[in-house]
Amino acid sequence: MEDYQNYLKEILISKEELQQRIAELGAEISADYVGKELLLVCILRGGVFFTVDLMKKISIPHLVEFMAISSYGAGVRESTGDVRVTLDLQINIRDKHVLLVEDIIDSGNTLASVIERLSVRHPKSIEVCTLLDKSSRREVDVPIKYRGFNIEDKFVFGYGLDLDEYFRGLPFIGVVDLEKYEPAE
Ligand code: IMP
Ligand code: MG
Repeated sequence: MEDYQNYLKEILISKEELQQRIAELGAEISADYVGKELLLVCILRGGVFFTVDLMKKISIPHLVEFMAISSYGAGVRESTGDVRVTLDLQINIRDKHVLLVEDIIDSGNTLASVIERLSVRHPKSIEVCTLLDKSSRREVDVPIKYRGFNIEDKFVFGYGLDLDEYFRGLPFIGVVDLEKYEPAE
């Protein structure tokens, strides 16, 4: 893999803009869930940077759990909603207020399927917090309670989001230059 600069078209959301918005979301969540048993569910691997920074901005006591899913049936850039849980939650979510923390919602298939799977475990509530929303690509309706940024239909990477598994560690969200990067199929 070459250096990320070779594939970067532009920086879409800077490190500062990300941190500013995450602080706002953290304050909102802290106010909304005061006195409630809040459980953040981080969707691995993309949601991990967002989850960790968000936790630092949530001022009320809360729990965190991790869940990993892989979708299959479609290409690497598309999901079908046919998801498999590869790492499940380690605790019972009954009586918890679950907040799913995701990097990006594209078609909505992945999150819709996760909500369906977790709902049958009777959490007190289940809501979604996504850093990015590619709303123009939505195929399945997903109720989003907290949204960092609505973005256009561009393939992005960094801050948890990968370019064929690389570059998740970048502190900003960048747009992939598709003229310079051949996506794997
Ligand atoms: P959905 O099921 O179509 O909503 O797909 C959501 C998943 O696709 C996200 O969790 C990401 O892993 C991946 N994804 C969608 N758009 C992008 C992107 O622009 N860059 C990197 N990953 C993406
Ligand atoms: Mg993801």
